[in-house]
Amino acid sequence: MPELLIEQVRLYSRGQWVGEIVLPDHQFKSPLLIYEWQGGHRAIHRSCPHKEYDLVGCPISRGGVVICPWHGLPVSVVDPKTSFHVIQRDEQFFLQLT
Ligand code: FES
Repeated sequence: MPELLIEQVRLYSRGQWVGEIVLPDHQFKSPLLIYEWQGGHRAIHRSCPHKEYDLVGCPISRGGVVICPWHGLPVSVVDPKTSFHVIQRDEQFFLQLT
C-alpha cells in the first residue's frame, strides 16, 4: 500500500502530534493532527471541515471523535471518510494511502 511521509512532525501533547503532508511539487501542503488510537495512529485534517477552526489541542473521545470547540462538529478519527491510517516507523510517521 502506498505511503506518504508526514513532515514537520512534532509532539503537541501526550498522544497528539502535528505534522503536514507536502506533495512532491510543493504546490500543496495539508496540516494534519495525528492521534494515538488503540495501539496505532490515525490522522485528521488539522482544520475543521466546517469553517476551518484549528483543531490542535482538541482531545479525542473514547469513541474516537474530536469535537470542534467552535460550533461542535464531531470529526471522527476512525471513519475513513474523515481520517487516515498512520504508520509509525523509525520515529517517522507515514500516511497510508488506500
Ligand atoms: S468551525 Fe468547527 S464546527 Fe464550525
